[in-house]
Amino acid sequence: MTRPHISINFAVSADGKISSVARRPSGWTSEEDHARLLQLRKGADALLVGRGTLEADRMTMKASGDPLRCVVSRGGKFDPAHPLFHSAGGPIHLLITEGPALEIPGATIHTGSLASFLQELTAIGVKHLHCEGGGELARELAAMDAIDEIHLTWAGHTIFGGRAAPTISGVPGEFLPASGAYELIEFDPRPETGECFLSYRRKA
Ligand SMILES: NC(=O)c1ccc[n+]([C@@H]2O[C@H](COP(=O)([O-])OP(=O)(O)OC[C@H]3O[C@@H](n4cnc5c(N)ncnc54)[C@H](OP(=O)(O)O)[C@@H]3O)[C@@H](O)[C@H]2O)c1
Repeated sequence: MTRPHISINFAVSADGKISSVARRPSGWTSEEDHARLLQLRKGADALLVGRGTLEADRMTMKASGDPLRCVVSRGGKFDPAHPLFHSAGGPIHLLITEGPALEIPGATIHTGSLASFLQELTAIGVKHLHCEGGGELARELAAMDAIDEIHLTWAGHTIFGGRAAPTISGVPGEFLPASGAYELIEFDPRPETGECFLSYRRKA
């Protein structure tokens, strides 16, 4: 499958969760983590999130260099009043895999599968796609064996608990078709915040 180089970035609690409930807002990690989040966006030609994360975190997906702002949805229930559609930034590309192809002024609408969307992004020049969640979308990428880099902030200062609380591969459920193997390329503990920045690259 032709696709861009894909990286993901998540903050993870001591019990491996990415949020306490399905719709917890962001902001539970340090300012340094937020700075790293912005740093990791640099160099990406496109940012990608699931509609759940877009809604929960009220994201505008603004980043230096104005990368494409891509959001995926099955049902396509995008709110035209969402801040994403009213903020300056990179071109907006929405993927709707199952619902009707609605029109949102200023946004390019794609239909079809996530795999075909990745091919279309490649065709318009996206070499590096950076995904900021959520778990449901990252699980789909992992199931497609389409994650090349994993960036984590280990935020062991917090325990979320919760049977329904998602991890970076979504809510606990079926095993992935195969395990992925990654090697550590960055280990950056931050004692002052109780967090640790980690980066992994897919093993050749
Ligand atoms: N700790 C962290 O670093 C971090 C990072 C990101 C998010 N989060 C948290 O995670 C929560 C949001 O997660 P979420 O469970 O809602 O997951 P999500 O993946 O952001 O959103 C799920 C929605 O995205 C769409 N989607 C996901 N995979 C898709 C696919 N393969 N094809 C088409 N559409 C797809 C669907 O949208 P439709 O419903 O429109 O069909 C689905 O309902 C929030 O609480 C957020 O704060 C935490």
